[in-house]
Amino acid sequence: MKLFLDTANVNEIKKWYETGLIDGVTTNPTHLSKEGGDAKKKVLEICALMPDCDVSIEVTEDDPEAVYKQAMEIAQLAENVVVKVPCHKKYYSVINRLVDNEIQLNITLVFSLIQSLCMCKLGVRYISPFIGRLDDIDADGMQLIQDIRLMIDEYAFETELLAASIRSVETVHQTILAGADVATIPLNIMQKITEHPLTDKGMTAFLEDWKKLGIKQFP
Ligand code: G3P
Repeated sequence: MKLFLDTANVNEIKKWYETGLIDGVTTNPTHLSKEGGDAKKKVLEICALMPDCDVSIEVTEDDPEAVYKQAMEIAQLAENVVVKVPCHKKYYSVINRLVDNEIQLNITLVFSLIQSLCMCKLGVRYISPFIGRLDDIDADGMQLIQDIRLMIDEYAFETELLAASIRSVETVHQTILAGADVATIPLNIMQKITEHPLTDKGMTAFLEDWKKLGIKQFP
């Protein structure tokens, strides 16, 4: 299972990439707007920082032809770019053409099994169902992840299931159990999933007990 970071913060990406845990990054217009500055420079910096990892960069145009042109340009920014396109029906033929041109796509804002089926049929690289935003409207985000897993396996699609809009440690836990290929994790949750109070407590106790022996050098 791959873990992506859901952020455009270069310092945090660098820090987490050095742990060896991170297989990619998903940016979006909200993340880039939050960071401010030169968005193109920022995404180029992220791509160069982790050349062996997929970096998702989202289109920002609205008109389908403009989205096609922009997606082709974004794809040329670096070899590890994955272009993010929203799962809207007005982009279906654009997505089809991009796949024909061998552009790596991450289809974002996916909220149903049928949308997922359509994107798998088009042969996109990743689909990103948004768990948290479904839970926000009292739908069941995790059920959708489970249903998509079954569908991909049943019909042997090659598209990877990328769980997005993750807002809790428990959701990460359930995403692992549901068999997602990738989970994209926001920074606050990444911090939490890599900590455990009992690990901290246990380390403190071991160190204190060791000091009682009074040994200066070991081994
Ligand atoms: O990867 C998608 C994510 O950034 C959206 O998260 O919490 O705004 O629904 P959220």
